[in-house]
Amino acid sequence: MVGSIGVFCKDNIHFCTAEMGYYIAEEFWGNGLGASAVGQICQYIFKNTDIIRIFAEPFAYNIASCRILEKSGFQYEGTLRSNAIKNGQVLDMKMYSLIKSDIEQ
Ligand SMILES: CC(C)(COP(=O)(O)OP(=O)(O)OC[C@H]1O[C@@H](n2cnc3c(N)ncnc32)[C@H](O)[C@@H]1OP(=O)(O)O)[C@@H](O)C(=O)NCCC(=O)NCCS
Repeated sequence: MVGSIGVFCKDNIHFCTAEMGYYIAEEFWGNGLGASAVGQICQYIFKNTDIIRIFAEPFAYNIASCRILEKSGFQYEGTLRSNAIKNGQVLDMKMYSLIKSDIEQ
C-alpha cells in the first residue's frame, strides 16, 4: 500500500456531489501515482454511481495536488480565501471540480 484515495458523497441538495481526498506516501511522490489514482477513481465514480460533480479543495500552496487535479481534467473554480486554520496559520484553498459531462464529451 502506497497511499489512499476516497470520494465522499454529500447530502441534502448536494446528494449528487462528492468530495475527493487523497495522499501518496512521500517516498513514492513524483511517479504519477497520484494523477493515476485520481483519474481512475473519477472514471469509476461516474460510471457506477449517480454522482455528477466531484470536487477537491487543496491548500493554495499545494502545487502538486493542484497539478494532479489539472492533469486529470479538473477545472479551477476559484480561491477560497482564509478558508482554513492549520497550526495557527490562516490558509487559502483552491476549489477544483470535474463534472460528469466534462468527460463524456
Ligand atoms: C499531492 C500528492 C497526492 C501528489 O502525488 P504524486 O503521486 O506525487 O503525484 P504525481 O506524480 O501524479 O504528479 C505530481 C505533479 O506535481 C508536480 N509537482 C510536484 N511538486 C511541484 C512543485 N513544487 N512545483 C511544480 N510542480 C510540482 C510534478 O512535477 C507532477 O506534475 P507533472 O507530471 O506534470 O510533472 C502527494 O504529493 C501527496 O500525497 N501529498 C501530501 C498529501 C496531500 O497533499 N494530499 C492532497 C490534499 S488536497
